[in-house]
Parts: sequence; C-alpha cells; structure tokens
Amino acid sequence: MDDANLQLNGQDYRLPSFEGTEGEVAFDVSKLRAASNAITYDPGYGNTGSCKSAITFIDGEKGILRYRGYPIEQLAKHSTFSEVAYLLVYGDLPTAEKLEQWRQDLAMHSFIHEKMTRLLEHFPLSAHPMGVLSALTASMSTFYPDSTDAEHLDLNVRRLLGQVKTIAAYSYKQSIGEPVVYPRRDLGYAANFLRLMFATPAEEYHVSEVLDRVMNTLLILHADHEQNCSTSTVRMVGSSEANLYASVSAGVSALWGRLHGGANQAVIEMLERIQADGGDYKKYTEMAKDKNSGFRLMGFGHRVYKNFDPRATILKEASDEVLAELGVTDPLLDIAKNLEEIALKDDFFIERKLYPNVDFYSGIIYRAMGIPVNMFTVLFAIGRMPGWIAHWLEMREDPDGRIHRPRQIYIGPTERSYPKAR
Ligand code: SDX
Repeated sequence: MDDANLQLNGQDYRLPSFEGTEGEVAFDVSKLRAASNAITYDPGYGNTGSCKSAITFIDGEKGILRYRGYPIEQLAKHSTFSEVAYLLVYGDLPTAEKLEQWRQDLAMHSFIHEKMTRLLEHFPLSAHPMGVLSALTASMSTFYPDSTDAEHLDLNVRRLLGQVKTIAAYSYKQSIGEPVVYPRRDLGYAANFLRLMFATPAEEYHVSEVLDRVMNTLLILHADHEQNCSTSTVRMVGSSEANLYASVSAGVSALWGRLHGGANQAVIEMLERIQADGGDYKKYTEMAKDKNSGFRLMGFGHRVYKNFDPRATILKEASDEVLAELGVTDPLLDIAKNLEEIALKDDFFIERKLYPNVDFYSGIIYRAMGIPVNMFTVLFAIGRMPGWIAHWLEMREDPDGRIHRPRQIYIGPTERSYPKAR
C-alpha cells in the first residue's frame, strides 16, 4: 500500500495510507495542516472519512450492506429487530440465553416515567412527532442523572432502546386524543410497538404474524447505515462527551430533514400530489430533471449507492406481499412503480446514478399497516436507534477519537477599522 505524496508550493508531503478489511483505501491527512498550513476542502464530506468503524459496511457500487459482516438480506429474512439491535450494539449475535435476557430487558424498559407522559400532554396536538421524539429523548437525561456514569451505560442503552418506541406511540396517541395502554412484557419489540400504537384501554389490538414480521423487517432495514447524516451527528455531539440521550436527540433532529429520514414522508406526499394531478407521473419525472422546478423525485438518489439500494429491493418485493396479505390495494404503489420504471430508463437519472433508496417504498408499507404519514420518520428513528447507540459507543472507545471540530476557509472581509464617528 503506497503512501500518498502531495506536492504543494514546491514541497513534498507524504500522507500515510491504510486499507480497511474490505480493501477501502484512505490516506491520513491529520498532520497535513501542521506540516503545510493547508487543509483539505470537501463540502458534505463525500470524500472524507471521519473515523474507522467495525459496525456497518456498504459497497455503493455493488449494492452491498452488512451489519457486523452479516448481509442485510439474510438478517431481514431470518432475524428479529431485537437480535439485530444486540448484534449492532455488542458486535456479535447473542446466544439464545442472552437474546432472551435482552428481550426481557427491552420489554421491562418499555415503560416511560409517568412525568414524561405528563410532558407529552403539553405539546400542541399538531406537534410533529419528530419534534416530540427529539425533545423527549433529550429529556431522558433529566430523568436518569446516571446517564453520564460509565458503569450505568448498559442500563441507559436498554432504557433508550426500550423507551423510544413507547415515546413514539404515546406521542401518536396524544395527537389523536386517545388514551394510552402500558407496554406488555410478553410481547416482542415490534409487536409491543404496534400494540402501543393501536390498542386502547377499551379495545385490545392483536398483532398479526404478518404485521409482526413486516415491522421487524422494516426496523431491521433501518437499523444502521454507517456515517449517514444523523449517525455522524450523534458521533459529533458525543465527541464533546455529551451524554447518550443528548447525542441521540441530535440524531433524531438530523434525521427529520427531507433529504434524509424525512424523505419517507416526502415520498408519500409526492405520490399523493401526482395522484391528485391525474397520476401524470411522466410530468413529474420531467419536472425532476428541471433544476428550476424546485422539484426532486423524493426517495430517489443516494450519496453512496450508485447502482441500487439493497433495502429498496427488499422493500419493493415486501410491498407487494404485504398489500396482498393485508388485502390492501394502494394506487400510490402503482404510481411509485411507474415512476421507478420511467426514471430507470431516462438518461438524466442514469447519468447521475439515481435509483430508488430505502425511503421510496417504505411509506407504501407503513400506509398499508395503518401508520399515519407523519409517523413514518419516527419509525425510521426507532429502527436507527441501535445504530446510533452502536456508533456512539464505538466513538467513545476510538483510540483516534477526539472532539469533532472541522476547519474552514475564511472568505469574509479582511481586517477593517471600526469608524470613529458613529
Ligand atoms: C437516506 O446517507 C445515508 O446512508 C442516508 C440513508 C440512511 O439509511 O441513513 O440511506 C437514508 O437519507 C436516504 C436518502 C433519502 N433522501 C431522498 O430520497 C431525497 C431525494 N434525494 C436527494 O435529495 C439526493 O439524492 C440525496 C440527498 C439523497 C443525495 O444527495 P447528494 O449525494 O448530495 O447528491 P446531489 O444532491 O449532489 O445530486 C447529484 C445530482 C444533482 O444534479 P447535477 O447538479 O449533477 O446536475 O443528482 C441530482 C442533483 O440535482 N439529484 C436529483 C435527485 N437526487 C440527486 N435530481 C432529481 N431527483 C432527485 N431525487
């Protein structure tokens, strides 16, 4: 592996290079500024590695996604979200005994502090559930002052994973004025969440095997994705030694944006707009190609995947199965499929390597399950929680770790004096 050699102003600078376990190559510029007084410039960090990580591997050209080495296709088909969460956080699949203890811990920690339930009552009914989730995850550090103690880290990991689904479901209940039910310790993670969403004290909600399986698949597919915007935010906030809850709350806020996790809600709103406009998907494909239109094909494109997002492939197949099994037909699915078909044949999208991403089909399935559209990104956040936690823990143990503080190139006014007569 040759080191990189940079020539700058007649000087040579050797930049040590290294290779990851999957053959990815990087050269280390951490000493560049001290040696040359120059820095690198990479808006959006598309060419910049912020860390070495052993959690998730993505090959954007080959459409590969693996959690701790296990292919996403196998985990989505054979595992459960609780097991995948354990894998991401601790690095290996649990034994049967450890998995059962983990499941029981997450079920026990599903209950939120009663004062948090009171907090929920003070949000406006129109509050977006992502704003509620960000606020309440941050508030967890006020209910659990031990959240900064290293010896209580594992306890706080279980609290956060256990309670996030309850906070989400209760924020939904609050928004529709329905009373909540308490979590049940005998249910798995996904089933517990769906029951919290749809049961009331007056009427039980039985989670069918189909919905339980689909919810597990959806949560597994969203569980981690290496250094995406929200995960990098969690690592950045945690690098100042902020506690786990405050760091994850920042991740929730980053995920909310339309270009990131908020895209799943934006996809449905886009499909509904096309449907209201007579289903003319060709018109909207043309608009997406016109920069002046201000319209983008939401759910399309990805910074890393340049052929296909393996999660979108799984979700496209699942959407047909789920709608059939639930006996649901959704005209938006036909519009989505037509959009995909026409875009994949269009040079504009082909040249820019724009393909459906994880958000393109997930909303169709959430709709079929009866999940309200403003909860879609919250479900993304619940799924991503183990990934955020795993990266926050890895960041704390990183031997190269230091507080994140990028540099800049100043382009403002040079020195000038404050006018005497003011
Ligand atoms: C997620 O990073 C992750 O891993 C994220 C995620 C995860 O699991 O954490 O995978 C989850 O966030 C998926 C992405 C969800 N967002 C969307 O679906 C929103 C629509 N997509 C885009 O806005 C865009 O594709 C991004 C944000 C996903 C990627 O943006 P990039 O890498 O900065 O690409 P870009 O904006 O520079 O676009 C490159 C070109 C541009 O055209 P040119 O200037 O070269 O002519 O492609 C065009 C863009 O205009 N383009 C699109 C487009 N996406 C990019 N044109 C039309 N429709 C689109 N969706």
